[in-house]
Formats: sequence, C-alpha cells, structure tokens
Amino acid sequence: MPDIDLSRLSLEQKAALLSGQDFWSTHPVQDAGLPSVVLTDGPHGVRRQVGEFDHMGIYQSLPSTCFPPAVAVGSSWDPEVAARVGAAVGREARALGVHVVLGPGVNIKRSPLCGRNFEYYSEDPLLSGHLGAAHVRGQQEEGVGASLKHFAVNNQETDRMRVSADVDERTLREIYLPAFEHIVTEARPATVMAAYNKVNGVHAAQNRWLLTEVLREEWGFTGAVVSDWGAVHDPVASVLAGLDLEMPGPAPENTRRIVDAVREGELDESAVDTAVRRILALAGLVAEPCDGFDVDAHHRLARELAAECAVLLKNEDGVLPLAPGQRVAVIGEFATTPRHQAGGSSHLNPTRLDNALDAMRELAAERTNTVDFAPGFASDGSGDAVALREAAVALARSSDVAVVFAGLAEREESEGFDRDTLHLPAVQIELIRAVAAAAVRTVVVLSNGGIVSLEGWHDDVDAILEGFLLGQGGGGALADLLFGAADPSGRLAETIPLRLEDNPSFVNFPGEQGHVRYGEGVMVGYRWYGTTGTPVRYPFGHGLSYTTFTVSGLAVESTGDDSARASLTVTNTGDRAGKHVVQVYVSPQAGPVRRPTRELRAFTKVRLAPGESRTLTFDLGRRAFAYYDVLDAGWAVAPGEYRVQIGENAEHMVAEASVSLAGDAPAQELTLESTFGEWIAHPVIGSTLLDELTAALPEDQGSQLSDRPELLQAVRDVPMKRVVGLVEGDALDATLQRLMERTRVADRP
Ligand code: BGC
Repeated sequence: MPDIDLSRLSLEQKAALLSGQDFWSTHPVQDAGLPSVVLTDGPHGVRRQVGEFDHMGIYQSLPSTCFPPAVAVGSSWDPEVAARVGAAVGREARALGVHVVLGPGVNIKRSPLCGRNFEYYSEDPLLSGHLGAAHVRGQQEEGVGASLKHFAVNNQETDRMRVSADVDERTLREIYLPAFEHIVTEARPATVMAAYNKVNGVHAAQNRWLLTEVLREEWGFTGAVVSDWGAVHDPVASVLAGLDLEMPGPAPENTRRIVDAVREGELDESAVDTAVRRILALAGLVAEPCDGFDVDAHHRLARELAAECAVLLKNEDGVLPLAPGQRVAVIGEFATTPRHQAGGSSHLNPTRLDNALDAMRELAAERTNTVDFAPGFASDGSGDAVALREAAVALARSSDVAVVFAGLAEREESEGFDRDTLHLPAVQIELIRAVAAAAVRTVVVLSNGGIVSLEGWHDDVDAILEGFLLGQGGGGALADLLFGAADPSGRLAETIPLRLEDNPSFVNFPGEQGHVRYGEGVMVGYRWYGTTGTPVRYPFGHGLSYTTFTVSGLAVESTGDDSARASLTVTNTGDRAGKHVVQVYVSPQAGPVRRPTRELRAFTKVRLAPGESRTLTFDLGRRAFAYYDVLDAGWAVAPGEYRVQIGENAEHMVAEASVSLAGDAPAQELTLESTFGEWIAHPVIGSTLLDELTAALPEDQGSQLSDRPELLQAVRDVPMKRVVGLVEGDALDATLQRLMERTRVADRP
C-alpha cells in the first residue's frame, strides 16, 4: 500500500476522495502520484463501459467473455470451476483496464422468486461461501480486486433500496452471514459492497454493527467498503458506520456534508482519514493494462465450464445421451437464440455466442444423426402460436427423439424486480405437452436464471436437462451434454419445490410496508423441506450422471471435543468416466435450540474413470456442529450425538454414522430466575436435582416429587424462586445455594 502523508491534503480534498470521481472510478491524487482505480461490473465477465455509463444494463459495454453466471457455477458444486471463472475474468479485466470487478454476489436464495437469483450461487451458505471464495482467489491472483456483494441480507429486488430485512441474530449468523464470513476470512477480497437494503431497520451502508463490528472487528476485514451504486443516504452516518467509498460519484453535496460534520464536531477527522487510507490502498491494484486476452481460448473455456454446470434432472430409460443415427427434432426458440445471461448491471456484451442448434448439427455430422428444427413458439408472443406448435408436433412425430428448448425470456427475470410465478409461459407448457404426446421420446432443455416449476408437464417427458444460464459457450456445452461428449455433473444448488406455496419464505416474501420479516428463521430451502417432511419435485443436491457411483465404508471419529473426521470410498460403478459430488451432511440429535434435520457441512467433486475408486477424508471442524447461541452471543457445540450422513442429495442419504461429541462446557449458570426445567436439564446438577430436593424437604413434601410427575411437568416453565415459594419455610435455600455454586462457570474445571 503506497504510504501517503494525509496532512498534505485539506479536509475538503480528503472528503472528496470518499466518493468516486465518476460512475466507475475513484479520484486520483495527482500530487502523490496515486492513480484512479476503475471498478466495473461483472462478475461472470467484465462490463467495461466507455462513453455512456449506467448500472442497469442499458448501455453497451466493450466485448468480454460471458462465462457461466453464478446460478450455473452454483450448480457445478465445484470450486475449481468458480476459480477458473474468477481467473479468466481477472485476465480480461487487466486487458480492459479494470482494477476491481464488482462481485461475486453471495446472497442466499431465500425465495425462488428473487429476480436476481441468477447472480447468486445457492440457498446454502456453505456452498455459496466455498464457491465465492474460489472465485475471489482466482480473480485476485490475477491482480484484480473483487467486491464481495451485497453485504448483507439482500435477498429480493422488491423495494430493494429501502426495505428492512428483519432477521433474528441466530438466522443472520447461521444463514445470511457465513458465506461472507468465509470469503472475507479465507480469500480476503479487496473490497466489500454494502447493500441497498436495511438490516433490522438500519441501511446496510450505514450499519455500524455490520460494517465495523462484524466485518472488521470480528472477521478482520482490512479492505475498503464500497457502497452499492446509490446506497448512501446519510454520508456522515455511513462514514461513522465504517463505509469508505460512496459510489457512484462525484457527490459534491455529500462531500460538503462530511466537511461540515467534521467542522461541527459531529464526525472525527480521523474517521475520514481512515476511510481515505483504505480507498487509496486500492491504488495498489492499478497496473499497466495487459495486451488483450485470448478470445478463442476464453470462449473454449466458457464452453468447457458451462458443461460442468448443467443439471440432468431426469433421464428415463437412458434416453440421453442421444444415440448415434437417431433423427433428432430440435424444437424451441432458445435453441437458436440462447438465453445465456440475464438483465441488469451484470449484463455483458459477449465476444461471441454459441447456439445449441448449430453446435448439435456439428456433433450430429460425426455421429450420423440428423437434426431438424422447428421454433415451436415465439417468446415475444409474435406469430401464430397454434401454427408454430403444430409444425413442431409434426416434426416431432417424424423423428426418433424430440428435444424441446424451453425457458424464460430475458424480460421475465432481471435485476430490479422479482418474479411472481415459477411457471413457464403457458404457450411453452402447451408445446411441451403436445410434443411429448406425439414424439417417441421427449427431452426438455431448460434455460432460466431462477428455478422454474416442472409441474404440469414433468411426467409427460423422458428427460430434463436444466441448463440455467450458461454464458456464451452454453449452446456448445448443451450439445456436448446431449450427445454425451461431456458427462452431466451439475447438482441443484436450490430445491425445486412442487408448489411455490411450499417455500418457507412464501408468506413473508417480499414483505409489506417497508419490512420483510424472515419468519422462517434458519429453516431456509432444504433445511425447511427436510425438517417438515414437505415433498419436493427435486431436492437440493440432486443431479444425475450418465454413469453411476456408490459410496462405501463411511467411518467417522471424533478429533476433539467439537470436531470429527469422516472418511469414505466412492466408486464409479458405470462404464463411462464421470464426476460425482460427495455431499456430507450433519444431523444434530441434541441441543437447546431447534436445528434443521440436516445441514450441508462439506462437499467435494471427484472425477473417476469407470471402475475407479477413491478414498476421501473430510475434516469437520467446530462450525460443522455448532449453532449460534444468542444467550452467549457466540457459537456453541451442544454435547451429544451427531449423525454424519452422506447424501445423494439433501433428501436421500446413502450412508450414515454417528459420533458423540463432548461439546462445550455449558455456559449456563443457574440462578433463582432459571426455570425448574432449566435446572433439571442442567448438565452439571440436573441429574441429581430431584434427589437433592427430596433429601432437603420434609418427607411428606419430598415424596411428592417422585409420586406426582404431573407436578414436575406443571412447574417446568416456572422460575425456581416461585417453585421455592410453594414450599413452606426455607428448607431448600441452602441446597439451592450449593447447587448454584456448582454451576458457576469459573469454578468448573
Ligand atoms: C447493483 C450492483 C452493481 C452496481 C453497479 C447496482 O445496481 O446492485 O450489483 O454492482 O449497481 O452497477
């Protein structure tokens, strides 16, 4: 970090540095030789604008490779994929003179309706955190800073600039913050972007608890906090809270307010200096732009990575991969006009764009397949829907297999608004059903940024390949997967429910009157479906391959009071090479708080040749077993038994072993305010409590404790001081005092 003597700058100059010089860059400090830093959108490519600027995807940007967006990378379950995207984006950023690429976005997919789910990885914080960390590392190793966003609890677009996300602390700590925490502590992003929304009533960009206490003091973040574009409301409150850079700039009115606040003693000048130093430190990222990037190599990479991300949801009787010689009817506009990215600030100008139909024709030529095409529908509603459908059905009838490319049009999902339905447009559902009724076999290929419902047509078709949005190489990747040139290895990073109403956020999304209540608490996504036994269409973690795998020999041993090690062997039992995602879940059996039935605690993706086996070891640290204890304001591991489960997905477990952990010494000190139930549950004195009380009481009263269990039940939630009041005299005082002493934490070994 270049050391700059801030005493050479006036207060006005320093305050001006706290906002950008324009839409995409910081102010330089000419005298000190400090250059301007360019920050630009991404993160699945580089959105470098020259000329007209905007942050809504309105104006064009320079060409860059459109890699698979986060929804796809999330489904790869492969940090290596995220790292390679990050590194390639870093290389392109250097070529385009960009020093910080704004992303990755690691907000949790709380509701499947969130319009920006395509920019986020998953409904699970561990998966999001590991993929995000890999992306940040990959990008920053190329010398380009990341901007981890949107910090925090930005899980909807409705009223996004004002809404207060009202979330209890345990839910924040267990669900909405861990991905950020993991990435900040493990990958050290250069910047973090403060979100638009409020968190529990306070704007994220002026939330001191979030930006200073949690981010810096607890997690040790040393970089700069940047506001989302237009997220600063009160610039003085933002500086006080720990925000460094307001974007976009310039913001002369806010500069003046900061200067006035210092002059009036409302804001200490040292707080301005601290923020200035953090912004100027970003100048360390500025380097000479490198000479272009390898457009062809990056396009090939985009195609290769896209093939890792698509999820094969269904494949009856092995209809996929398509067999050589088959006559294939390709149906649907998305085969020729691919949906490959979504709208808003991440919208890129791709260097080129594969379409699936051309790519399938290329592969078909080598395999003696024929490929014919019918558009089937027009996503903009133009043309004669019936005639389009009938032509497609006729083509399907005269083919061996029909492949229907369905999905959502670009106008149906974007940054800026949430969806109001999970269904595909009716015209597409009718088409799929009509084709399936006429064709010998039907495959559906989906392109959508947020999940779509499969109801109403799922059972009519033989196979479903969920491509999400795969970037500019997606068309080629889908062709590779359909013909078996690549093996599908994606897994759902988000549950596909049967009904929108089954989603745990349903009654509280997107909130009302300025507030959205996160009433489902920690029971987000599969945590809810699994705990309540709500049936789903496809669970989190689901995805098929063209080969098969088994898991055997699961062994779990504790490696301390609050940690364990699991090992197992995974074998490719099929006749093709393929990749398997080993998913390790922990199911707690004990503890004072309601826990989800199981939570993902580790995963890895392994490539195995036919017949090959590999033994894997997973170290499950303290956090794999912990819950956030609000009474103690910290992570706690309850003593007891934990089941370590290996899942094909979040619902179907294929192996399980138990481990007993000593856990934490209970912190709870008993007082006379503690309830009778808390006394009896106390791990130190609970087991002998009834004997102690019986011994202390006169015989006729003491015997009631054992003879009348309903009495004990009735006083369970009554503070001990009231229970004592039911007993005549002070017979219990000395005993209770002695027992309370024994629960004093400091006195325990
Ligand atoms: C988005 C950010 C983006 C910024 C700059 C905002 O509207 O929320 O994700 O990085 O604009 O374009």
